[in-house]
Amino acid sequence: MAEQTVLTKPAIQVENLDLYYGQKQALYDVSMDVEVNTVTALIGPSGCGKSTFLRTLNRMNDLIPGVQIKGTIRLHGESIYDRNIDVEMLRKQVGMVFQAPNPFPKSIYDNIAYGPRIHGIRNKKTLDEIVEKSLRQAALWDEVKDRLRDRATGLSGGQQQRLCIARALAVEPEIVLMDEPTSALDPISTSKIEELLQELKNKYTIVIVTHNMQQAARVSDKTAFFLNGELIEYNDTATLFSNPANKKTEDYITGRFG
Ligand SMILES: Nc1ncnc2c1ncn2[C@@H]1O[C@H](COP(=O)(O)OP(=O)(O)O)[C@@H](O)[C@H]1O
Ligand SMILES: [Mg+2]
Repeated sequence: MAEQTVLTKPAIQVENLDLYYGQKQALYDVSMDVEVNTVTALIGPSGCGKSTFLRTLNRMNDLIPGVQIKGTIRLHGESIYDRNIDVEMLRKQVGMVFQAPNPFPKSIYDNIAYGPRIHGIRNKKTLDEIVEKSLRQAALWDEVKDRLRDRATGLSGGQQQRLCIARALAVEPEIVLMDEPTSALDPISTSKIEELLQELKNKYTIVIVTHNMQQAARVSDKTAFFLNGELIEYNDTATLFSNPANKKTEDYITGRFG
């Protein structure tokens, strides 16, 4: 066995996951591992369960009434749906960035310092350092360093989304979930975020939903194709796009539906 396969433990292990919204089943027996320090893309037509699946990874579906989940999701071997799991701590470890940039109506600085403050950091110098580091990691520091006290809502859409990424990074997560993070952005802002992902994966594990197959092909190491709540195929991105194993994957990536 290659040395690497022995050493690399998955960050997340999903086994036989079913999810229901009330009576309606939205995920069917999904099993997959997410590897550490990779970008994993979730693709598939609208309504196939990408966002639902993404939200199970940090229990965001808990907030939706009537949701039932069966199966197991482990984060470094520990089951995240166990009773004794602290959901706030889980969401600190597994951060999230949403489709539309959603900065708080606060200053740039306070947006980034928000999470660390909630987790008890009060020291001004420490907060300053976290703000700078997070903004640097999100490739936004140079653009905003002279106006940290300005309102975040005054930034451009692309800057706001990088701010939201910086805000997610500020609490030092291990995993960052992103749900179509560029779908509201122009092409230049989109490519900035795509470049950023390549930097971030050195330090974080990223799972990104995208309805844009070209984006999945550009940014991800692994791709998972969902259809009607089922995981149809999961493989190295290059293989999935060049040599899909399943006819449904092939039909989707060649644009026959979706
Ligand atoms: N809060 C919800 N309540 C009920 N059904 C939902 C909810 N969110 C999503 N669904 C349903 O679950 C299925 C998967 O949706 P979703 O995960 O949003 O798909 P995608 O992100 O791939 O577009 C769809 O049929 C959708 O209508
Ligand atoms: Mg979605």
